[in-house]
Amino acid sequence: MTTSQVITTAFLLISITLILFVSPSLFPNHHHPITSLFDFDDPEDLSLFRRASSPSSRKISHLSFPRPIPLPKVAFLFLTNSNLTFSPLWDRFFNSSPSPRLFNIYVHADPRCGFSDPLGHFHGRLIHSKPTERASPSLIAAARRLLATAILDDPFNFYFAVVSQHCIPLHSFDYMYGSLFGHPVSGPNPNPFRSNPLRDPSGFKSFIEVLSDEPNLHERYVARGDHVMLPEVPFNRFRVGSQFFILSKPHALTVIKDRKLWRKFRLPCLNNQLCYPEEHYFPTLLDMMDGDNCSGYTLTRVNWTGCYDGHPRVYQPEDVSADLVRSLRQSEGDFSYFFARKFAPDCLPLLMDLADDVIFRD
Ligand SMILES: *[C@@H]1O[C@H](CO)[C@@H](O)[C@H](O)[C@H]1NC(C)=O
Ligand SMILES: *[C@@H]1O[C@H](CO)[C@@H](O)[C@H](O)[C@H]1NC(C)=O
Ligand SMILES: *[C@@H]1O[C@H](CO)[C@@H](O)[C@H](O)[C@H]1NC(C)=O
Repeated sequence: MTTSQVITTAFLLISITLILFVSPSLFPNHHHPITSLFDFDDPEDLSLFRRASSPSSRKISHLSFPRPIPLPKVAFLFLTNSNLTFSPLWDRFFNSSPSPRLFNIYVHADPRCGFSDPLGHFHGRLIHSKPTERASPSLIAAARRLLATAILDDPFNFYFAVVSQHCIPLHSFDYMYGSLFGHPVSGPNPNPFRSNPLRDPSGFKSFIEVLSDEPNLHERYVARGDHVMLPEVPFNRFRVGSQFFILSKPHALTVIKDRKLWRKFRLPCLNNQLCYPEEHYFPTLLDMMDGDNCSGYTLTRVNWTGCYDGHPRVYQPEDVSADLVRSLRQSEGDFSYFFARKFAPDCLPLLMDLADDVIFRD
């Protein structure tokens, strides 16, 4: 290229960039205040995802690890738009584990909710958070931010569990840890076939619901327009599932490295009644990229019986009992359910009464 060609090209690139960044603020979209934020990749998010997926943070270099390789940890990713009502119960859950501390806690709280932890129960880290809203891609963005922050924060995080302020634990930490990794928190690994996933992640699945037979699936597929998902997402690859999942580290990296599907799923819906981007993005992406290593079910119990408005059953104080906890645990998957939702905030005292004798007794 000649010098003048270089200058012309640079001028064009700068102009396009300016138009892209300035025009949305000149013409704000009053109908979709949050969705319009997703017309472009958020530069802060992009930089976070780049750092988290860069080879230096991604590669678990055997040389850089202390020997023997430490036990893997579980990162708890709390996605909330209110204070965490059940933090005393979660606190009990985390304290039910003997040392060493094999978990980390990260909180993404909508900044408009004035999140605080007045009792100081919760020793989680509040990450840099942005507004979230139903029927917008903001919940996908928040989960991606949580995953990236947790990957960067601690190389020993291996499983990443998304939970909300309405979730409660149904088992002790040790029970969950033993089920996920095939051996208890303390003591020798009794199962020599399950190695440390930090050394070899094969055989350690993600626990994410992946469904293709929902009655509304086609309406949800065309919620952004008839053909907009093509060619990246043909209808026969479009999936649905709960946003409350536990991802393995390889899958967490798949999510934060993805830009192709994110570009589609962040498009605004034309029909908000059928718009649940976070229930489609994660199952579709992971099923496409590595479906064989996904369980196809979630370990967070939710009761949809008799619900048609997009809101599941919310358990009230009069529902809370030892029998409820035991029945919520029952699953048809390989493991008992670890968590359940949704519980009304005033269930807390009753759940605390059940904590030691029922919930954390396995
Ligand atoms: C969270 O707790 C703080 C302090 O108690 C309170 O000021 C704030 O309003 C609470 N936020 C919500 C959404 O309840
Ligand atoms: C699943 O994980 C194993 C081990 O990590 C890997 O070899 C394989 O390529 C992954 N994908 C599929 C589809 O099996
Ligand atoms: C789920 O909700 C239905 C309807 O509200 C109720 O009859 C059923 O007992 C609930 N199941 C569990 C396990 O709580």
